Amino acid sequence: MKWKDCQVRLKERLGPQRFEHSMSVSRTAFELAETHGCNPESAKLAGLLHDYARDMCEKDLLAIAEEHRLISHPVERQVPLLLHGPVGAFLVQRELKIFDADILEAIAVHTTGAPGMSDLAAVVYLADIIEPSRDFPGVRMLRSLAQKDSLDAAVLAALVSSISYCLERNLLIHPISVEARNYLLGST
Ligand SMILES: [Fe+2]
Repeated sequence: MKWKDCQVRLKERLGPQRFEHSMSVSRTAFELAETHGCNPESAKLAGLLHDYARDMCEKDLLAIAEEHRLISHPVERQVPLLLHGPVGAFLVQRELKIFDADILEAIAVHTTGAPGMSDLAAVVYLADIIEPSRDFPGVRMLRSLAQKDSLDAAVLAALVSSISYCLERNLLIHPISVEARNYLLGST
């Protein structure tokens, strides 16, 4: 499906603010892909579509995930919002006929990260966190890290930031985020 058609379909699914966020993630992912040597067009499309399932209710997210065996850890049943990545990737494939494995992976893991994720997935993960309208303590440090050479170092810092956020608020943490952090600690 063409870019413009994807935009139209996305606009039907998301509220105006989240649509703007998606456009912003798309632009940021494009820039980061150019900096870090991965495919900018794939990054632009994965960034646009990363939240394709984000406005679905928890009941529907769970139902689709159960039906199509998309649940990878019990914490996803406790926090069904964590499923909007995997469910989004599934729906983008089914409804928009996007079959590029890298794009689908980037959408699937954008909320949690994953150990050994591709550079494209790393770029979209980061873009979601640092796009220009994001404002939280530490975001400027993450932006400047993301513009430097090491994608891994930027992703590690972003994972630490989001894991710390959950720790401070007693929120459940998806173990795959901890695994992604451990993986990068071993490789950076
Ligand atoms: Fe998301």
